[in-house]
Amino acid sequence: VPAGTDLIEEINRLRKERNAVILAHYYQKPELQDLADFVGDSLELSRKAAETDAEVIAFCGVKFMAETAKILSPEKIVVLPDMEAGCSLEDSCPPEKFAAFRARHPDHIALTYINCSTEVKALSDIIVTSSSAETILQQIPKDQPIIFGPDRHLGGWLSRKFDREMLLWPGVCIVHEAFSETELLKLKAQHPGAPVAAHPECPPAIIDHADHVGSTSSILNFARDFEGDTLIVATEPHIMHQMEKALPEKTFIGAPGADGNCNCNICPYMALNTLEKLYVALRDLEPRIEIEEGLRVKAKASLDKMLEMAS
Ligand code: 13P
Ligand code: SF4
Repeated sequence: VPAGTDLIEEINRLRKERNAVILAHYYQKPELQDLADFVGDSLELSRKAAETDAEVIAFCGVKFMAETAKILSPEKIVVLPDMEAGCSLEDSCPPEKFAAFRARHPDHIALTYINCSTEVKALSDIIVTSSSAETILQQIPKDQPIIFGPDRHLGGWLSRKFDREMLLWPGVCIVHEAFSETELLKLKAQHPGAPVAAHPECPPAIIDHADHVGSTSSILNFARDFEGDTLIVATEPHIMHQMEKALPEKTFIGAPGADGNCNCNICPYMALNTLEKLYVALRDLEPRIEIEEGLRVKAKASLDKMLEMAS
């Protein structure tokens, strides 16, 4: 990229020229959230990707999100600014191991968190996001045995909330796993009465102290509606950008990791995307997501089920 390039101006020019839509997750850097045509949680971003009539989707998020966009909108060009933007949950669940696990439990259906590879989606019956999991689980007959993967904390939280046993895949999100209960209790003591909003990817020791548990969008709604002036936020700290913009009169504090601050909870995969890489992706229409058609069709079946059941 030539020195002196005005990245924002160039991105805006290319977005028009390419008939592109820029989608961003709430864990992206503030400058990417601010440039996006739409910012949302995983379910909202999937819906947007399925509906858009743009020719190009530039996805500021991680690979499984961009792949979801391509599965739902195969005729579009989908670019991801950095192909290395993976996810620890996806890494925890290799398709061959997941297939073998399923084969050992043939009477179980696989209810699978969207944070997984396209191959694992193709091996699953129904996909869920954190904002759709509760509604979808409640539509599955009580006597139907379920495998839930790859996030054991989301699965465990659902299991406790609905008193429903599920076979849990042992994956975790390295970001939410890093919150410290001891440091959270210290922070709560410093801000008596401040509620805690947590993502269900957090371990139970954090969830137990939460006043609200839900997806990134539901945490944003809670931030708008809670009574009081200070909120402790137990999810990836970049989400606080939206809170600070919309609610300048309130104070938002990121829940701490073991070192006492919230910077260790920045998602290293989400952080790989930058303005410069977004500019290059729009300019070159690379790196591009490509999925083999047979695999895509199989993965689409479980995603379509989610979109049907979540509404
Ligand atoms: P949601 O935005 O759907 O809550 O997902 C959070 C997440 O971890 C994405 O990787
Ligand atoms: Fe994956 Fe966790 Fe990063 Fe989300 S925050 S992309 S679940 S590692």
